[in-house]
Amino acid sequence: MTERKAANLQLKALTKKYGEQTALYETTLNIPAGRFTSILGPSGCGKSTTLMLIAGLEKPTAGCVLVDGDDVTNTPVEERGIGIVFQNYALFPNLTVKENILYGLRARKASEATLSSRLYEMLELTYLTDLSERYPAELSGGQQQRVAIARALAPHPRLLLLDEPLSALDAWSRASIGEQLRAIQEASGVTTVMVTHDRQEALSLSDYVVVMNAGHVEQADEPNDIYDRPASEFVATFVGGMNIVRMPLIREGAATGLRYADVKLYRATEAALTRPYTFVGQVQAVQFMGDAVRVKVLLNDFQTTITADALRINTDRSVFSLHSLIAVELPESAWRTWGAQ
Ligand SMILES: Nc1ncnc2c1ncn2[C@@H]1O[C@H](COP(=O)(O)OP(=O)(O)OP(=O)(O)O)[C@@H](O)[C@H]1O
Ligand SMILES: [Mg+2]
Repeated sequence: MTERKAANLQLKALTKKYGEQTALYETTLNIPAGRFTSILGPSGCGKSTTLMLIAGLEKPTAGCVLVDGDDVTNTPVEERGIGIVFQNYALFPNLTVKENILYGLRARKASEATLSSRLYEMLELTYLTDLSERYPAELSGGQQQRVAIARALAPHPRLLLLDEPLSALDAWSRASIGEQLRAIQEASGVTTVMVTHDRQEALSLSDYVVVMNAGHVEQADEPNDIYDRPASEFVATFVGGMNIVRMPLIREGAATGLRYADVKLYRATEAALTRPYTFVGQVQAVQFMGDAVRVKVLLNDFQTTITADALRINTDRSVFSLHSLIAVELPESAWRTWGAQ
C-alpha cells in the first residue's frame, strides 16, 4: 500500500533552548526507516520538544534534521510530508469520520478517484469502515484515536509522529489500541516516532527505543538491549524493576543491577544457603501484583533491601510470610552493569 519508500530520519547535534533553559542538548540520533521508534523518558525531559523539532513546529537553536539525507531544518511544517497525532486527537468536531480522514487529501486537491480509494484503504487499515458517517462526539476515545491516525496517514506521509497518543485511554484500551497502532504501522510501513513516558508501552510496541533524561539521550537501542544492557544507572532503573546492589560480595561493591524478576527466593534451608550468591534475609513486605508476588527482603548481613518478583504459578506462597527468614539468590548470570564500570 505504501507509495513511498520508508524514510530515514537523522538528528544532528540538535539543540533547543527556551530562553535560558536548555530543553535539548546536542542530540544526534539515527531513527531507522520503516520502523516503530519510541522516545521514552520522565516528564520534562524533552520528548515533545524533540518531536516538535522533527515536525518543524519549533525551530532548533542549533543543529539539523535530515530526512533521507535532505536537510529539512528550514523547511516549513506543511512541506515536510509528516503526519502528526497529538494526545488530545483534535479531530474536527463538525466533520464526519470520513471527512476528517479526507481533510489532508482535499487540501492537496486530490482527485475524486484518489479520495475514494484512499478513504477505503484508511477505513480498512484502522478498522473504521462501519463508522465512516459518524461524528467525533459519537465515537469512543479509542475510535477517535484511530480516526486521528487514519487522518495523519491518508496523505502518505514520509513520517508519522505521535505524542503520547494513548495517554487519554484507560489501561485496558491502551494495551489493545497500542497493539492496533503497531499493526497499522507495520501494514503502512511508515517510519514512526512515538513519544511516551510509559516504559511498558515503549518496550512492547517498538523496534527501537530512545531513552531520554534531562534533555539528553541516555540510550538508543532495541528494546531487549535497553532492558538487558542498560547504558546507565538511569536507564537501568527507569526501565523498571531493577535492584541496584552495592555489596562487597557482588562485584566488590560496585553498583550492580539485578531485575526483580531475576532474584530467586527459597525456603531458608541449609541446602539453599550453600548456593552461590545466596544470602539469608527477612521478609519485610509482600505485595500482590496479579501474576506475580512482589517480595521485599532485608539481607541481614548487608543491611540491603532486595525486591523480588516471584511468579505466582511457580510459588509456594507460605515461603513468603511476613517477617519470616528466607534464602535470597542473586544469580551471577543476571548481574547487569553499565557505562564504563
Ligand atoms: N514553549 C516553551 N517555553 C519554555 N520552556 C518550555 C517550552 N516548552 C517546553 N519547555 C521546557 O522544556 C523542557 C522540556 O519540555 P518537553 O515538553 O519537551 O518535555 P516532555 O518530555 O515532553 O515532558 P512531558 O512528559 O511532561 O510531556 C521542560 O523543562 C519544559 O518546561
Ligand atoms: Mg510532552
